Amino acid sequence: MPAQCIHTTVEMGTFAQPLKGQCRPSHVSREFLVSLKASTQPHPAQRARHYTLPIEFRKKYGTVQDSLGCGANGHVFSAVRRSDRTEVAVKLLPKRHVAPWSWVQDPDYGFIPREVQILKDIKHKAVIGFYDLYQDEDNFVIVMELFGASWRTTTVKSSDENPLPLAVRPLRRRAMDLFELLEIKKLSEDETRYIFIQLVECLDHLQAHHQLIHGDIKDENVLIDWIDSKPIAKLIDFGGAVIVDSNHRCMGQNFAGTLEYAPPEVVLGQSYDPEKADCWSLGVLLYSMINRGCGPFADAHATAYEGYQQPKCSTNCRRLISELLNKQQRDRPTFKEILSHPWVVNGQAQHC
Ligand SMILES: Nc1ncnc2c1ncn2[C@@H]1O[C@H](COP(=O)(O)OP(=O)(O)OP(=O)(O)O)[C@@H](O)[C@H]1O
Ligand SMILES: [Mg+2]
Repeated sequence: MPAQCIHTTVEMGTFAQPLKGQCRPSHVSREFLVSLKASTQPHPAQRARHYTLPIEFRKKYGTVQDSLGCGANGHVFSAVRRSDRTEVAVKLLPKRHVAPWSWVQDPDYGFIPREVQILKDIKHKAVIGFYDLYQDEDNFVIVMELFGASWRTTTVKSSDENPLPLAVRPLRRRAMDLFELLEIKKLSEDETRYIFIQLVECLDHLQAHHQLIHGDIKDENVLIDWIDSKPIAKLIDFGGAVIVDSNHRCMGQNFAGTLEYAPPEVVLGQSYDPEKADCWSLGVLLYSMINRGCGPFADAHATAYEGYQQPKCSTNCRRLISELLNKQQRDRPTFKEILSHPWVVNGQAQHC
């Protein structure tokens, strides 16, 4: 059975509890709507609708526009910077959603979530750019680069009722993540490789130079834009990031990734190597990209104990997927080893 294509961030130890809902327009389950109604805590999207942004934010940014996305923790919308009319992405992050171990002391902003400090301090072509941070008693307001091709377009035909000329207009959303891309487009193997290499190079850089592991690799945390007909990827959402020591030990934090992307050692509650956990998630992501958005495992039991249906792709690609989805974490490749895998090296010269 193919895995469910709905992903929600969960924290270790909460798997037995109902998953927090998310608000993708085409993926809102009945259970989620019922839980939303019954919940005493408003969903991030509901909260955002009634929220007055800090005055300092409103001085610099105006015209709050489209909703860009909504995860378990934050609601992201677009706004316009007044000085140059640049569109930006704004994430509203409630302070009570920030895990106790994720607070850090920052020289510029005081106590803030680690995910903000990472965005602020790390400049990399495959990491989303950071612009500003505001806060009030309850929320952080994180202003970022807006990235991603328009979600969907529609052709508006001229008619008697609508005498406009023929035009192609974006429908509602102004940005696209990989989850959405896989819903509307089948990626070729070359396009898949092009995206995959960007992500692994970035993850390798973050680990080598910042001792940082993303911790929540999944299609919803990768933004895609098409530049010169090539899919350019940027990583977002460092809410599950962990700092590791030289022995790859995680520095005092639980797993805060996503159930469908979590490796067997995590779903079984065993100790885990954060780099190898990300490599498993990369295996799930690669499989999903090849398999039109559907992952290899239906649930946590399958992740821990079952095999998966072989995807339709080249032999080298299948080999890499099976190495990444090795149930033994010690036998999975590292980021560096992935980058020297024949599927990556032999395909690097090709253009997608
Ligand atoms: N800079 C950005 N530009 C465009 N879209 C964005 C941007 N940042 C976030 N989004 C959209 O908003 C969605 C939610 O953002 P994000 O992943 O940061 O929230 P979250 O609540 O931390 O998510 P999760 O459920 O993974 O914990 C993303 O999946 C993406 O579709
Ligand atoms: Mg996310």
